[in-house]
Amino acid sequence: MQVLLSAQEVSKTYASNPKKALDNVSMEVRAGEFIGIMGASGSGKTTLLNVLSTIDTSSSGEIMINGVHLNQLDDTRAADFRRDNLGFIFQDYFLLDSLTVHQNIAVPLALQGVPSETVDQTVQALAERFLISSQLSKYPGELSGGQRQRVAAARAIVKRPAILFADEPTGALDSSSATELLHTLSEANRELGTTILMVTHDAYAASFAERILIFKDGRILSELRQAGRTRQNFYTAIMDQISVLDDNR
Ligand SMILES: Nc1ncnc2c1ncn2[C@@H]1O[C@H](COP(=O)(O)OP(=O)(O)O)[C@@H](O)[C@H]1O
Ligand SMILES: [Mg+2]
Repeated sequence: MQVLLSAQEVSKTYASNPKKALDNVSMEVRAGEFIGIMGASGSGKTTLLNVLSTIDTSSSGEIMINGVHLNQLDDTRAADFRRDNLGFIFQDYFLLDSLTVHQNIAVPLALQGVPSETVDQTVQALAERFLISSQLSKYPGELSGGQRQRVAAARAIVKRPAILFADEPTGALDSSSATELLHTLSEANRELGTTILMVTHDAYAASFAERILIFKDGRILSELRQAGRTRQNFYTAIMDQISVLDDNR
């Protein structure tokens, strides 16, 4: 499959902090992949996601998405690039509380001037996929956390972004809501071909990905592939890998 994102020797040091948050990271994301980025708190996962998605800039290295060199984008063009190419889900849902669920999901399309009939059809179809069809006329404040995060996920992919970036999307959810969200993300990946890069400290959440990069101290320590294993077996393999890495500390 085509390489959508490539990062070459990317490092990041924050001005206030002498320790490297990212230390010479090279990786690729191919079209259609579901990648998990795992690692303990402070290992650089959020920094990686921010730098790969133009939210933040790297200190050195090269990042390309869809043939565009991110280093060459100024702030305005980076914002345009994000809007046109990328989708985001964060631990906090960031829905607009004064808009209905339908309106929240429709916002990115409405801003683009898509005709309202097309918007309605697209929103309906995604709402079904994300199990929120019966919530469309409600407001975010009337929904459970799990439902809110599924609305956020629908909004994030309504414009069919080249890559969906998710930072600890299950971080605020109870385990059954987390499982529901992970299943819907996994389905969007398989059935819509949505390319996903998901950051999580949680091995269970990571076990829904096809390929996992494990981070420590801003570096990639190891890579694991699901490779046809059941999710349960993949989860066990991830836990084994983490305990081996911990033993070698
Ligand atoms: N805005 C910031 N300023 C200074 N240091 C930061 C900032 N954000 C993160 N860091 C540091 O960078 C390292 C990686 O952090 P982060 O990417 O947030 O890790 P993770 O998401 O894996 O918990 C940590 O040592 C953290 O303290
Ligand atoms: Mg983080």
